[in-house]
Amino acid sequence: MSVMERAFPPEFGEAWNRRQVSDALIVGNCRYGLIAPDGTQDFESNTDTAGFFLGRGILDEEELLLFAIAPQYRMQGLGHVLLKRFIAEARANHMARLFLEMRRDNPAGHLYAAHGFREVGVRPAYYRTPGGSRIDALSQELVLDDYAGT
Ligand SMILES: CC(C)(COP(=O)(O)OP(=O)(O)OC[C@H]1O[C@@H](n2cnc3c(N)ncnc32)[C@H](O)[C@@H]1OP(=O)(O)O)[C@@H](O)C(=O)NCCC(=O)NCCS
Repeated sequence: MSVMERAFPPEFGEAWNRRQVSDALIVGNCRYGLIAPDGTQDFESNTDTAGFFLGRGILDEEELLLFAIAPQYRMQGLGHVLLKRFIAEARANHMARLFLEMRRDNPAGHLYAAHGFREVGVRPAYYRTPGGSRIDALSQELVLDDYAGT
């Protein structure tokens, strides 16, 4: 939750609250992963959490619901490390396809593309900013059978 509170721009309402996260983990077929500032999952020698993901699996498909690196740990490759781990774990869990939805022009698109995600749909004007402008949501998919690994 400490990363959640720091990572998402407040104007889009993307961050979840503690109750939403705990409900998802208890009853929602969800799993999560954490990354420490040194890129490991060693939270004995690391006192802070740098980022996390939350994914929801349904049969052999999984949606990446939340993915974030805290601002002070960005641009150091941690997003790549964590996304690679999310994909590898999904593969180990026998998932066939991964999905996610993102705001058009989110820099995260560069990261997702680097790991093989491809645009499969658009929800026009899905997000509304407090200023009243609208931003499309892009649906992206990664078919794991086609995934060569990065
Ligand atoms: C998107 C996010 C997870 C990236 O985390 P990160 O640790 O900075 O990512 P990395 O350092 O591994 O960088 C991954 C690539 O994206 C590029 N990148 C990351 N943030 C960028 C930005 N703001 N502008 C331009 N490029 C960016 C990096 O240069 C790198 O490119 P490269 O592979 O060509 O070197 C992070 O910015 C974030 O948490 N954003 C807010 C939450 C969010 O929008 N999540 C996604 C919801 S769909």
